[in-house]
Amino acid sequence: MKIAVLGFGVVGSGVAELFDKNCASIARKAGQDLKIKYILDIRSLADTPWRDKAACDFEQILLDPDVCLVIETIGGLNPAYDYTKRCLMAKKHVVTSNKELVATHGEELLTLAHANNVNYLFEASVGGGIPIIRPISQCLAANNIDEICGILNGTTNYILTSMGETGVDFDEALTQAQAKGYAEANPAADIQGHDTCRKICILASLSFGHHIYPDKVQTQGIEQITSQDIQYAKENNFAIKLIGRAKRLDNQTACVYVAPHMVKNSNVLANVSDVFNGITINGDAIGEVMFYGRGAGAMPTASAVVADVIDAVKHFHAHKYLSWEKSTGDPVPPNDIATPWYLRDGNKQTITPTLTDWKPWASENGFSEAAFAMRVL
Ligand code: HSE
Repeated sequence: MKIAVLGFGVVGSGVAELFDKNCASIARKAGQDLKIKYILDIRSLADTPWRDKAACDFEQILLDPDVCLVIETIGGLNPAYDYTKRCLMAKKHVVTSNKELVATHGEELLTLAHANNVNYLFEASVGGGIPIIRPISQCLAANNIDEICGILNGTTNYILTSMGETGVDFDEALTQAQAKGYAEANPAADIQGHDTCRKICILASLSFGHHIYPDKVQTQGIEQITSQDIQYAKENNFAIKLIGRAKRLDNQTACVYVAPHMVKNSNVLANVSDVFNGITINGDAIGEVMFYGRGAGAMPTASAVVADVIDAVKHFHAHKYLSWEKSTGDPVPPNDIATPWYLRDGNKQTITPTLTDWKPWASENGFSEAAFAMRVL
């Protein structure tokens, strides 16, 4: 089986390295040898050990009937969207780590894959190396999923953990996360919560069965978190975490949002540190189940990509169709969810009682409407 890799950044190069390192066990599990025939990247591969695989252009891959499966690790919408559609229409299976593409065009691409009798698999798009797409679509398939709550971005979790534990400032922690290959090409997508938003949209679409679009989800990042907040959290047995949350309200409607939270140390998510991601899922049969592991980085993400390749090869003629329907309406913000709130206003910091809206309480208790507020989990 001949494979092509589109995009040779952190994830693409990790995939090639993993194929190389574990080729014998990968072949045994896939039932045949898997060979990377082409690698396509805008950068030259001339100085890498992969120079003999360099493709001239995308058409060379598209038109080569030997290539049955394409790994898309370019990231972003363009040209990944166009390349993916053309590969699926050419009846080539596609495996991806591209959360932005799946979150934005997942329903269309899954439908296209189905129509062309090929697989479109994206285990690596959420949680890096953590198995989460397959568990939701297969192992938990008998459940109605009621709620998903997750730390879904390794970069921000690394930053918040470093600031709390080693006292480094925000910029230094971000530089470390970038050096380790965790951050997006533009780390604003991590910091501003958009990466978490794309991932919770994928999990919610898969769980609730209809497409939830990232641009419809209320999203807040970690830019407003200060060392004062982190200090308060430590002293009062909390940890600050960027959480993506999706709650089923009825069969048509879901509440989906992304925001930093004060998480009690007794909550399992408080102990998910560094680049690790943690996801809790509540199903009506299983109750709560938790997934934990490395959420970013070359090898953890390559682990999920290569597993999808093996799965696609094993089910080459008996396809596994992941799917969800078109959108049934916009998700709603969490206005009706009552929680305690953490408030910071100048030097004043406190936790409120359980409230849906903190503003009336704040004005009666000496806090202004300009206070910074975070939900408590
Ligand atoms: N930038 C992402 C993160 C990469 O930090 O989680 C993995 O999706």
